[in-house]
Amino acid sequence: MTTYPSDLPSFQSFCEKHINPALEQLFVAPHAEMQQLYHAMHYSVMNGGKRVRPLLVMASCMALGGSPENAIAPACAVELIHAYSLVHDDLPAMDNDDLRRGQPTTHIAYDEASAILAGDGLQALAFEVLGNAACKYGPADRYLPMIAILARAAGPAGMVGGQAIDLAATGKRIDHTMLERIHRHKTGALISASVQLGALASGHANNAKLAALSTYADAIGLAFQVQDDILDVTGNTETLGKQQGSDLQQDKSTYPALLGLESAHSYARQLRDDALLALANFDDKATILRQLADYIVQRSH
Ligand code: IPE
Ligand code: IPE
Ligand code: MG
Ligand code: MG
Ligand code: MG
Repeated sequence: MTTYPSDLPSFQSFCEKHINPALEQLFVAPHAEMQQLYHAMHYSVMNGGKRVRPLLVMASCMALGGSPENAIAPACAVELIHAYSLVHDDLPAMDNDDLRRGQPTTHIAYDEASAILAGDGLQALAFEVLGNAACKYGPADRYLPMIAILARAAGPAGMVGGQAIDLAATGKRIDHTMLERIHRHKTGALISASVQLGALASGHANNAKLAALSTYADAIGLAFQVQDDILDVTGNTETLGKQQGSDLQQDKSTYPALLGLESAHSYARQLRDDALLALANFDDKATILRQLADYIVQRSH
């Protein structure tokens, strides 16, 4: 079995080497007339990005002693859903942002219709990738639940539902319960799914391990969006690769707006500690999951 690196920077390069070629091969247009659509999808996925969700899939598979090869298809699938969510999130009808990953957003680089279709295409591709993996590798009881978990996390009970309440809350004063609901759905759901998919991919998941990983994932999922909100205030556009201050400008409901910057920071650290505690019974194979929990609240982009 391929061995995993045990420090985060090497693990990141290792995952990139496995995942980028698998993603790259998805963007070959079957007909010349579809070139623009395929270019727009390629542009939206292969334009950098931290690849946090694929890292979580691979790290969760590693934590349970699974082979990295098993995690590649689910890792690609979650990144495709994530990229689609960003393309649509940036549209004028939603956050109306011009810059993403240091480059013009997809609707600026192409046009709005292309961005909508690229997002739609990426979403379907995610399920094609997982479905193909289910057919090719089986066993069905490992891959079929992944499809259901990813669909629920991406859909109206997950990310899409979170985006809907995020938009409804824009410009309004909301309480902590509602803000947490937005963040757990729009961002936490896909992060939790990443961890669950990695665990299932390992072939060694059991109920106790899945429950602990789900506590870990819920905590880092929320922490990730709290930190994203913080960076909108404290970051700079060049490092972030997206417009700093965009939330403030649009009067978005965020943790710094609700709690103040200092309390938002300590909340993120508290969630990181909760996540680490959930991994207390895991051995050294969970080292990357532990490092990712730290990274999520310390990152500067
Ligand atoms: C940004 O996600 C959108 C959120 C859910 C906060 P990332 O910060 O993971 O974006 P990329 O993939 O690295 O560009
Ligand atoms: C985005 O949240 C969440 C999803 C794309 C599902 P944000 O709107 O805060 O993400 P950024 O800040 O634009 O990356
Ligand atoms: Mg948004
Ligand atoms: Mg946005
Ligand atoms: Mg944001």
